[in-house]
Amino acid sequence: MRTVRAFAFDAYGTLFDVHSVVAECRKVTPEAEALSTLWRAKQLEYTWLRALMGRYEDFWSVTDAALRFATRRLNLRLDPAQHARLLEAYLRLEAYPEIPKMVEALRGYPLAVLSNGSPRMLEAVVEHTGLKPHFAHVISVDAVRSYKPSPGVYALGPQRLGVPREEIVFVSSNSFDVIGAKAFGYRVCWVNRAGAPLDELGMAPDATVSRLDELPKALGL
Ligand code: LAC
Repeated sequence: MRTVRAFAFDAYGTLFDVHSVVAECRKVTPEAEALSTLWRAKQLEYTWLRALMGRYEDFWSVTDAALRFATRRLNLRLDPAQHARLLEAYLRLEAYPEIPKMVEALRGYPLAVLSNGSPRMLEAVVEHTGLKPHFAHVISVDAVRSYKPSPGVYALGPQRLGVPREEIVFVSSNSFDVIGAKAFGYRVCWVNRAGAPLDELGMAPDATVSRLDELPKALGL
């Protein structure tokens, strides 16, 4: 097994809880969980479709469009200010509580965020959650104008970190991202918080944890 020299983390769902928008959703509908779930599902679907069509728009536009669709599907009539407040909740997502323990245990390794998020969105959320000092690189897909699981996106990790892909552990809670990263050639750890089954795409992560602070032990560090 090659030495581990760096870590790259997915952002949404891995470091930051996308469903922290539920509190804001509750202000506009009793079906807050349904809105949050549909919003997230459409957001990811739109990234896949835009990448396949070669019609990139940044993650802020995609997140905005997904919210418009989700509110229409649920027959919610939001005024522009309500819509804007919901969208802006993405800039203030909560970080998972075990992260300080994890960054302490990984001290000495360069850590990167590698995400679909636009540079502005990622900058805002790492700042808001206080994680900025811990991540040497905050890498957005915007540099290649495509989305995960496009190999060109994953290639940004070794380029920016200056470390070969097999020596970077890519960490994600999103199983499509786990498989995309594995297909690219990273060493991969899946954060499977919900005990979900793995997607049937013929690839598996090298390690699986249920919380981020289990990472060092799962990798034998
Ligand atoms: C990201 C999406 C996959 O942060 O959650 O890239």
